[in-house]
Amino acid sequence: MTRNSYHFEYEVYLSADALEPGDAALLAKAREATVLAYAPYSNFFVGAAAKMGNGAIVFGANQENAAFPAGLCAERVVLGNISSAFPNEPIDTMAISYDSKLVNTDHPISPCGICRQSLQEYEQRIQLPIRLILSGMSGKVLIIPRASMLLPLSFSKSDLNIR
Ligand code: THU
Repeated sequence: MTRNSYHFEYEVYLSADALEPGDAALLAKAREATVLAYAPYSNFFVGAAAKMGNGAIVFGANQENAAFPAGLCAERVVLGNISSAFPNEPIDTMAISYDSKLVNTDHPISPCGICRQSLQEYEQRIQLPIRLILSGMSGKVLIIPRASMLLPLSFSKSDLNIR
């Protein structure tokens, strides 16, 4: 028997004011994008904005559906927008925020399991990390160096024997 462990480091900032200007601007875009959410069921408005390797900014928000599982998280809306607008372009950083009248929005959320899976596949496809900036409308900000750090022991393309 061997015992393995998994460890990763991330940065914690007290507020967006402490960020590098480029990161603060991208987080501001994610916060702005929360108004684009269609979330009549959860009233939880998630916005995401990605800075591409070519400098372009691509944003999006969650889109819900009366058939609940048909809804899409903001992160996967952005990945879909990216695949149409800039296919095969690296994503340097994705910022994620959320707004709500029902819950406090002063702390970060992190991507759901399905979005972690999708972000990881994009990283593997492009062979470059996606940095994540996580925050609410105010308060603490987390910076995760690569999205796949949030999904250890993950299932991937190679498990299907597909290169
Ligand atoms: N949601 C996102 O868009 N991203 C996340 O990281 C977490 C959850 C959405 C899905 C659903 O529309 C609403 O937030 C409540 O779960």
